[in-house]
Amino acid sequence: MAKIFPNLSEEHKLAVDQAKNELRAFIIEKQCAPLMLRLAFHSAATFDVKTRTGGPFGTLRHKEEQSHGPNVGLNIAVDMLEPLKQRFPLVSFADFYMLAGIVAVESTGGPLIAFHPGRPDMDAPAPEGRLPFPSHGSNELRNIFVNTMGLTDQDIVALSGGHTLGSTHKDRSGQDGPWTSNPMVFDNSYFKEILAGDKAGLIQLPSDKALVIDPAFRPLVEKFAADQNAFFQAFAESYTKLSELGYALEIKTLLLHAIK
Ligand code: HEM
Repeated sequence: MAKIFPNLSEEHKLAVDQAKNELRAFIIEKQCAPLMLRLAFHSAATFDVKTRTGGPFGTLRHKEEQSHGPNVGLNIAVDMLEPLKQRFPLVSFADFYMLAGIVAVESTGGPLIAFHPGRPDMDAPAPEGRLPFPSHGSNELRNIFVNTMGLTDQDIVALSGGHTLGSTHKDRSGQDGPWTSNPMVFDNSYFKEILAGDKAGLIQLPSDKALVIDPAFRPLVEKFAADQNAFFQAFAESYTKLSELGYALEIKTLLLHAIK
């Protein structure tokens, strides 16, 4: 199905471009790229393809959703972005959060990512219980990413490469430490580390280890560890898919309303 995106006014398109520029300066200055990528992932990963609820519609701005277990610490990201977001009233929270994730990747050396602005903001928080847990193995990861979100095995492995940025925090997840020795650089070192196994000072969650154990995931881990370009291309494609979950239908709905 061809995806339909809204036809934005020139003024709106300019606001999105300016917001992206200012997000870049902000994220570099505050050194918060990892937190912003996590915010973007958690914004979108609540999507359920069967009920077409949840998804990247700015709902993490609601305090209630910030209090969901896996979101601990993301109130910091939402609060940090708030003053900047207020300067761009034409840009939705939904677009702003997904754009922050793109800027996080691009500004730390990762791939350029295609983005279609125009997501509406939803008024209610996304349902609880949709996000992955660190204790999850490959069955649970597939249940969330494939059965619920409607993504693929390759999306699971490529997007998990987001852990090449940042670290876990004692006061958030209870874990402590980064996945790689260069956590402010977006590269393929996450895949090299999980293939190499445990190393002092670095962390691997059960959900990271699952990628090496599962016979269908492992060849993709090996491919991304050996070929950074393959990882970058796959990550960029999977991120765009993630950022568009439930979005095409939203536009259809909006168009139907416009015709009435
Ligand atoms: C596959 C299932 C996943 C699980 C179970 C998971 C779990 C976690 C956990 C427990 C943390 C540590 C939070 C903290 O203590 O600060 C974390 C951090 C992070 N996650 Fe994930 N994650 C998953 C997938 C992803 C994906 C797909 C992305 C991006 C595309 C992502 C991006 C990040 C980033 C960048 C951080 C570091 C945040 C920081 O440094 O503040 N994660 N994740």
